[in-house]
Amino acid sequence: MLRRLHKDQPASFAFTPANLEWAQGQISKYPAGRQASAIIPLLWRAQEQEGWLSRPAIELVADMLGLAYIRALEVATFYFMFQLQPTGRIAHVQICGTTSCMICGAEDLIKVCKELIAPAQHALSADGNFSWEEVECMGACANAPMAQIGKDYYEDLTPEKLRDLIGRFSKGEVPVPGPQNGRYAAEPLSGLTSLKDFESGRAQYNASAQRAVDIGDVVKRIDGTEVPILTPWLGKSAKAAPAGDVALAEKPAAAASKAEKPAEAATEGTKPAALTAPRDGAADALQTIEGIGPALEKLCHELGIFHFDQIANWGPAEIAWMDANLKGFRGRVTRDKWVAQAKLIGEVGIPEFLRRAKTNDY
Ligand code: FES
Repeated sequence: MLRRLHKDQPASFAFTPANLEWAQGQISKYPAGRQASAIIPLLWRAQEQEGWLSRPAIELVADMLGLAYIRALEVATFYFMFQLQPTGRIAHVQICGTTSCMICGAEDLIKVCKELIAPAQHALSADGNFSWEEVECMGACANAPMAQIGKDYYEDLTPEKLRDLIGRFSKGEVPVPGPQNGRYAAEPLSGLTSLKDFESGRAQYNASAQRAVDIGDVVKRIDGTEVPILTPWLGKSAKAAPAGDVALAEKPAAAASKAEKPAEAATEGTKPAALTAPRDGAADALQTIEGIGPALEKLCHELGIFHFDQIANWGPAEIAWMDANLKGFRGRVTRDKWVAQAKLIGEVGIPEFLRRAKTNDY
């Protein structure tokens, strides 16, 4: 399929203040000189904000990352998840047309889209509320045929069910996602054949659908209630968010999960005990710790950190200090779990640590 920029382009694009802060947080995750690595999340955020990726949006992202426009255009035009034309105001409907869905009736779903939305893919409905496209397998084959509407999966569809869903979305409703034929998840259509005890204590819906119901999910990914990006390495925690900034307001569940991570909110701390030189004149190979490269090892040495056992003994205060003082690598101690890694090296030795590190088993 030929993917090119839409013929009608807006004059400009700008991230909302909350999205700009989010984007800058994403960029800050990468080491100096590697900011281009943030291109996918930034393009995605721009698309989430506008519903599609316009040329000004792509160029703004390229500017933010110090990239030539053609580099950002290459990414935006390569990945089909990026919509290069306006999408429906309420939702973009993606019908899976791959094997399982096709043999279970995807063609009939496409007929419904052609009738209710627009005859051609990527065209807007007359009222501008919907658009649709056929996509490749979305990994819900056991619940074929299915569609992604907005950000959620609607599975076990029939033409009538899809018709009903589109009608309900038009009225402003957000139907419960997941199987639409009474199935709980992806169990056999005839019912469970094993683990039957599970049926009695389970929630009303499967985990994904239940979560959507519990948080009062909306059809769009960005609705102003997103969990803020935590960037303690920039000295910004969720608590530092300006009062009244709805885009940074937290959902209760998100607040609860953050409460379990006090170390992430720490921005000050205590300087760890430092050595003036490595013991016995030989430093440990700190680069054994995943996330420590030559530059960070050098920085550690400058801060008087030469040995695994020094790192293994850090508590939250020392971690916070290190995270705040790693210059271009703020937050890396927490993010890469240096302390857990150093402790494990002390317990099992480097060869066993390296074996476990392949599976992040620390
Ligand atoms: S074939 Fe449709 S989700 Fe896999």
